[in-house]
Amino acid sequence: MCGIFGAVAERPVADVLVEGLRRLEYRGYDSAGVATLEQDGLRRVCAVGRVESLAGRVAAEQPRGNIGIAHTRWATHGRPNERNSHPHLAPGVAIVHNGIVENHRSLRAELSAQGCKLRSDTDTEVIPWLVSRRIAEGATVPAALREADRTLQGAYAVAALHEGTQDTMYGLRRGSPLVAAIGAGGGYLASDANALAGLADHAVCLEDGDLAKVSRDRLAVFDVNGNPVDRRVIHVDRNASVLDLDGYAHYMLKEIYEQPRVAGLINDRYQEQGVLSNFLPLPPQRIRRITMIACGTSYYAASVAKRWFEQLAHIRTDIEIASEYRYRPLPPAESGELAILISQSGETADTLACLHRLKAAGCATLGLVNVVHSSLARDADSFIPLLAGVENGVASTKAFIAQLMVLARLAVDIAGRRKTLGQGEILGALKSLDQLPSTIAATLHNETAVQALAESFQSARSALFVGRGALFPIALEGALKLKETSYIHAEGFPAGELKHGPIALIEEGTPVVALACSGELLDKTGSNIREIAARGARVTVVGDRAGILSLMDVAVGALTIPSCDELVQPIVATLPLQLLAYHVAVQRGVDVDRPRNLAKSVTVE
Ligand code: G6P
Repeated sequence: MCGIFGAVAERPVADVLVEGLRRLEYRGYDSAGVATLEQDGLRRVCAVGRVESLAGRVAAEQPRGNIGIAHTRWATHGRPNERNSHPHLAPGVAIVHNGIVENHRSLRAELSAQGCKLRSDTDTEVIPWLVSRRIAEGATVPAALREADRTLQGAYAVAALHEGTQDTMYGLRRGSPLVAAIGAGGGYLASDANALAGLADHAVCLEDGDLAKVSRDRLAVFDVNGNPVDRRVIHVDRNASVLDLDGYAHYMLKEIYEQPRVAGLINDRYQEQGVLSNFLPLPPQRIRRITMIACGTSYYAASVAKRWFEQLAHIRTDIEIASEYRYRPLPPAESGELAILISQSGETADTLACLHRLKAAGCATLGLVNVVHSSLARDADSFIPLLAGVENGVASTKAFIAQLMVLARLAVDIAGRRKTLGQGEILGALKSLDQLPSTIAATLHNETAVQALAESFQSARSALFVGRGALFPIALEGALKLKETSYIHAEGFPAGELKHGPIALIEEGTPVVALACSGELLDKTGSNIREIAARGARVTVVGDRAGILSLMDVAVGALTIPSCDELVQPIVATLPLQLLAYHVAVQRGVDVDRPRNLAKSVTVE
């Protein structure tokens, strides 16, 4: 959360900084700001809200400095107002920060007692003061930053400017991502490499404890002991035109419509039987137990895949929410345990903490990750790229479908190696996965019907999503999509669980989205839906032909998905729910790509 960017060039950098922030806006958009070094010292321009507000201010005020740092904020400490916006200043020093300083209270008290005038409510502001004070006592900027690094507790990536150093900016990483680069136009620091598209061809990934010195044409990285180090260099994709809407009104819609292409890419890359097993950090035959760990939408992908690993590959599988799992006392790891960590960004703080904990316990770890230069990709024993491409909308869509497809293929693959499925069953499963690009495209054709249904949600205060089996996690995902994009309260339930409490929420007209597809649970689901319809629920069925026919008499609406193999039903059934959330949100006037209070990459716990 929070994006940081820095630039040093031979010309004013304010525009480059704002453009960098636009590319990092997915990390937070409560406020934004830049600090540049002008002839008469540091100058700060900030604005509350999205980067475009800052762009207007910068255009009006025209900072002229050739070196600057910038920040787009997801508020953790202090309300999103101008006073709390980054960069934060102390005499001679400007700092932008991504992360949390956990011991900020005691540091603030100490600094205040020493006469430092902290002005904001943020945890960050202690950093420039610590650095400024040490510089005033005679330390160099790197030494002052290094000392701050020893004093601070928590996770952070920091970019710093100092008035006495006109041509160099500094980066410090501990726990939050930071890359540095030299391009034709100058030197850069950024929270992620995609923000450097078109500015630099390569970027250096800082590691924890690293300090970078970046000037126009020189980049040097030093480890925690102050020794110069060479770090991993990654290629920056020039064409990562992350801001291109391709004619769509929003990234979310664009990304929903990219799903047939993403499905095709996954099929092409992972087509060959056995190819995904080669990514595993231990042979499939040796796996005795799988634990899948993730947050948010990625957790729902794990919830679906649990069924696949158990049913197809006969491996006991647990699923865990990372923020809980990281603090749970655990028995020692046994041989044959595989942990699969699933993350679009590969930077989710809780998921990474679980990874490091599991590795320390000796567990084999596999990352499923979309951002291939991320910390998860780097630190897991091995990782499988999700191939979804840059996902810009805060609400995850195509990355979820990619996670499900890769997990389904992996489960089938492992089942093949362990011989828990016959060759005929494997071929049948692969066929249904191979057909997904066209099945997904056909499902998305239904958009007009979804749009009409969305209108009926406009006055809803609350909505329920229900399903059974592998469709239950899809009900959870449908509810999450709706609440995060449209701010309508929504919950997902296993249809069979309604009677144990949730049914009390049903009153005349309560909207319920019921997931019903052919399979052995269809009749059970049907009975559950009838029970709530009898109590006044306004039921819309999302399902295949069999599902819809079975509930036609009680449903007020239906969204049909193509009939397909049970394995891929959860994947296909997700699509109408994505479109529903999108249209409800747009009709309600919500900024669907940047819903309030959210960020795409959650780098703090
Ligand atoms: C945030 C995003 C969600 C995402 C979750 C996990 O909450 O808004 O869309 O599912 O983080 O992120 P990850 O990058 O680990 O998949």
